[in-house]
Amino acid sequence: MAGHGAAAAGSGRTVCVTGAGGYISSWLVKLLLSRGYAVHGTVRDLSDRKTAHLKRLEHASENLKLFRADLLDYDAMAAAVAGCQGVFHVATPVPSGNLTDPEAMTEPFLANQLSRIQREMLGPAVIGTRNVLDAALSAKVRRVIVVSSMVTIEINPKNWPKDKIKDENCWSDKEFCKNNEDWYSVAKITSEEAALEYGRQIGVDVVTINPALVLGPLLQPTCNTSCQFLIYFLKGGPDRMRNKLWHIVDVRDVADALLLIYEVPEASGRYICAPHFISARDLLSLLKNMYPDYPCIAEESISDMDNDAPMTSDKLKKLGWSYRSLEETIKDTVEFCKKGGFLDDMEGGPFRFPPVYNKI
Ligand SMILES: NC(=O)c1ccc[n+]([C@@H]2O[C@H](COP(=O)([O-])OP(=O)(O)OC[C@H]3O[C@@H](n4cnc5c(N)ncnc54)[C@H](OP(=O)(O)O)[C@@H]3O)[C@@H](O)[C@H]2O)c1
Repeated sequence: MAGHGAAAAGSGRTVCVTGAGGYISSWLVKLLLSRGYAVHGTVRDLSDRKTAHLKRLEHASENLKLFRADLLDYDAMAAAVAGCQGVFHVATPVPSGNLTDPEAMTEPFLANQLSRIQREMLGPAVIGTRNVLDAALSAKVRRVIVVSSMVTIEINPKNWPKDKIKDENCWSDKEFCKNNEDWYSVAKITSEEAALEYGRQIGVDVVTINPALVLGPLLQPTCNTSCQFLIYFLKGGPDRMRNKLWHIVDVRDVADALLLIYEVPEASGRYICAPHFISARDLLSLLKNMYPDYPCIAEESISDMDNDAPMTSDKLKKLGWSYRSLEETIKDTVEFCKKGGFLDDMEGGPFRFPPVYNKI
């Protein structure tokens, strides 16, 4: 990969990673440490439960410093960013449950829910991003990489023909997402727009990346929302889903992409990071072939859906990015889930399809 050969490319350089204990960021921290970078990682909880897997990484004892910081706390963020030449802003609230309960949409309940959405999703995503950029400006960092998502590209984009391949010029329709109460996508669209616009205003070099559904093994001991997606396909359960065209990327390839767009000077704007696409039904067939011993979801639980043209990751590939096959990613994710006991039958309830995936 271009510019990625030297093991100690980051030697003498310090970068900050927000939400360092999360799924993607843990792999990024591991990669950065292996390349010789010193890393300032922010976490909300410094206890071993959230950080032991980071402290165990090679070179962590000498090159990883953890800071307790919530995205909404500017001073704490600024302390973590001070002394860094780059920032990877990865943290964002990723919901695993429904933020709204349609059964209970009475007026006071609605008001409470909207303030909860504000408090738990939009605030940290948008104000948090501004805090990170302000901290980056004050530390005079070279570049801020902001992790956005495919949900800012592919949801009902306005003025985009349905059969035209989606590239970085394509933006999801935020009003459509609001009307659909898809608050995760609203938060991601608003924070990516804010990151690019606010970065321009204050003169901070911001590059954003838009990963697809991220699969692959986890470094932390708990299972995250996107791995629950795969577990649900394999174990089955009571929920329905649409025959959506899913774009998928390996978590280790996302970490590579993040470092690449940080290191390559000419990188700019947005980067779609979504190398594979497969419909829910085709994914089910692939999993049944690869893992005939698992019950898998029922064919009938997948409803028909018209899919528009897929997204392309050509811009990222042109920078020199390469990626694993979908089969390798699935195999490694399932291996991890087996070892972690996440595919064992659960006591006291069926497996559930994370509701966020029926919204996006
Ligand atoms: N996983 C995917 O399929 C996927 C796909 C596309 C884009 N993304 C994006 O990738 C990024 C990382 O996602 P992930 O899958 O790695 O999720 P994750 O494992 O849930 O990590 C999210 C991180 O954000 C931190 N965080 C949440 N709210 C925070 C707050 N108010 N202040 C400070 N930190 C906060 C969490 O800290 P705690 O541990 O303290 O909760 C956690 O470390 C997100 O921006 C997400 O939108 C993910």
